[in-house]
Amino acid sequence: MREMIKLDLSRSLVEAQELQTAAPGLLEAKTKLWSENEPFTGWVKLPFQYDRAELDAVLAAAEQIRKQCDILIVIGIGGSYLGAQAAISALTTGKETGPEVCFAGQNLSGTYHKELLERIKDKELCLCVISKSGTTTESSVAFSILKDELYRKYGREEANRRIYAITDARKGILREETTREGYVSFVVPDNVGGRYSVLTAVGLLPIAVAGIDVKEMLTGAESAAALEKEDHGPAAQLAAARMALLKRGKAIEVYEYYEPRLFFFGEWLKQLFGESEGKDGKGIFPAALQFSTDLHSMGQFLQDGNQIFFETVLNVLKPAEDILVPESAGELLAGKSMNEINQAAVEGVIAAHEAVGVPIIKLEIPELTPYYFGQLVYFFETACAVSGYLNGVNPFDQPGVESYKAEMRKVLLKL
Ligand code: PA5
Repeated sequence: MREMIKLDLSRSLVEAQELQTAAPGLLEAKTKLWSENEPFTGWVKLPFQYDRAELDAVLAAAEQIRKQCDILIVIGIGGSYLGAQAAISALTTGKETGPEVCFAGQNLSGTYHKELLERIKDKELCLCVISKSGTTTESSVAFSILKDELYRKYGREEANRRIYAITDARKGILREETTREGYVSFVVPDNVGGRYSVLTAVGLLPIAVAGIDVKEMLTGAESAAALEKEDHGPAAQLAAARMALLKRGKAIEVYEYYEPRLFFFGEWLKQLFGESEGKDGKGIFPAALQFSTDLHSMGQFLQDGNQIFFETVLNVLKPAEDILVPESAGELLAGKSMNEINQAAVEGVIAAHEAVGVPIIKLEIPELTPYYFGQLVYFFETACAVSGYLNGVNPFDQPGVESYKAEMRKVLLKL
């Protein structure tokens, strides 16, 4: 059997008794997740029963895109882009062949999009527009602008051969347009919400275009799912520990990573947990810090500030590359590798924070490969959904997001 990511709760300050107490809630959460009766739980069994014909179609579309263009622009926001961005940042090295994958419609900045248009003007392009609802302002605006660029460059007919759409099977204006214009398209399954959709076409198509082995990713997710299917899976344990810490007033979770490649994985975690848990006046506020960089800013707060948080350390045991530090670095550092020094930082920070009573959860990740990335995605999706259930909220809706949209519409009507 291949290795698994490992959850270490030994310094979390959560007592075995507290985990025991959570057992009935965990059982209830597991039963709900695996019952196939709860709305938006389609992602739970997905790694076991991924539609092979669809996967082949996704891989064929990815191959086609790789032949068609120099740059694939993925248009989407929130759950419609963060998983792909996280995977591509974590797993590509810059040495891959094939198109560059870049992102649009994840903000409303005119500067960002003008600069993007400038950068792509002499390149062969494809677009992949992803929106479950098909009505999201950010993605609609960026899609119109980039579609215009494609029409200008190739004419409508050829442009339509370069547009790939991932949206609801039946509803929404993007589905209508897809049918009318004949784009190659995939479906965001009805029972999978945006932020739980990385392992559907939403994540898999752009990730495959970037040259990453998505079958390995699904195999990794399947191995994590097999553990959660049993009682006391690690993700369920993490959820129980998080809720025990919340009860003690630890209302912020700080995800800490020491590999910059995990920056967008941190962003994905913020979105997954923030949108899933923060409702009805409840939840743990997710933050993500890049170490050792942020030790020289936020490190002060963590060591010495208001102790309303706990830390979750994402520790990669075998980073992709390493460099030996030369003699000139001085006795303490010379002859060691950068990764050894980075690992000393991991252990040093944990010791220093433990000494002042910060609860520390550690996740050991053997390597940043598609297999472990798939495990991580499934592990955190489960930890998040179970946390929501334990805390009495629906982890699959986001009613709060609608409020700003309504207010923004009022402002737009006045312009
Ligand atoms: O996780 C979610 O559900 C959200 O973050 C959505 O993915 C995001 O709002 C984009 O929605 P849509 O895919 O409908 O454009």
